[in-house]
Amino acid sequence: MLDGKKMLFSGMQATGNITLGNYLGALKNWVNLCDEYECFYCVVDLHSITVRQNPAELRKRARNLLMLYIAAGIDPEKNCLYYQSHVSGHAELGWILNCFTYMGELNRMTQFKDKSAKHADNINGGLYTYPVLMAADILLFQSDVVPVGADQMQHLELTRDIAQRFNNVYGDVFTIPEAYVGKAGARIMSLQDPTKKMSKSDENPNASIYIMDDRDTIIRKFKRAVTDSDTRIIYSEDKPGIRNLIDIYSVASGKTIEEVEKEFDGKGYGDFKLAVGETVADVLEPIHKRFDELSKDKAYVDGIIKANAEKAGYIANKTLRKVQKKVGFPERIR
Ligand code: TRP
Repeated sequence: MLDGKKMLFSGMQATGNITLGNYLGALKNWVNLCDEYECFYCVVDLHSITVRQNPAELRKRARNLLMLYIAAGIDPEKNCLYYQSHVSGHAELGWILNCFTYMGELNRMTQFKDKSAKHADNINGGLYTYPVLMAADILLFQSDVVPVGADQMQHLELTRDIAQRFNNVYGDVFTIPEAYVGKAGARIMSLQDPTKKMSKSDENPNASIYIMDDRDTIIRKFKRAVTDSDTRIIYSEDKPGIRNLIDIYSVASGKTIEEVEKEFDGKGYGDFKLAVGETVADVLEPIHKRFDELSKDKAYVDGIIKANAEKAGYIANKTLRKVQKKVGFPERIR
């Protein structure tokens, strides 16, 4: 708790281009959570180096993601937006928690299995213990709730197990976090294979709308979106392509599924795809504008980075000192 509010923590990796799926499924929903929670949104750059990165590129992407958080409407005065690497407590608590996590547990992590299949030439220790670092992120802030997608639920479960195990030994040190179950974020699927989630690591650029795509690109990608040979715009299990477009249009326009079906009753796929493209472009336009302004205002962004890293560091340290004491590290001499 901070100022009577519960703690909320989430993070995103600065790798790959942030997609419309990330925006509609996560970022957009994060904007208003600060009314109810004390929110920490981290750019998890320590996690990023579990796969090889180009340093200049990583640095740039990390800054862009932080600016994107702000451009998407997350108020940096009311939310703590910071880089994981600026708060050393993440790594320090991560180490300690490694010693409270079983290899058997890590062996079961499906993301590790997927990623090691994908990066067979670089299956490093960091990739393996990635979930423990994520647990440290969450527990460091005594988080009550964590908004995560289905793909991260297994990691959150592990976080709870580690926290519980630690508390069983040392008393009530960590808050046991829960998944944030608010208004469910939209689950946006690939435009080229609507049975797969839209992913920033998809190799086909036509499969995803990137949040920084310009209007023409957005409209072109929607035009090319894979649908079916039927012509009706209805929300149906056996029409995954059209269903995905209806979902996107619905969240982007704020209309219900029924309203969308009605609006396009009797119209063709071409008209519908164009409308989806234009609406999405309209939604992203103000974000682009704000992002541009932020890119030109280095002093302002630097100020945010500095102030928020200090705030995050202060809170992280409180937990870290407590944990260090519990496990038996010697007291600091002041
Ligand atoms: N592992 C998450 C992902 O890949 C990112 C992440 C890191 C995270 N630490 C976190 C998410 C803590 C929520 C809470 O999407």
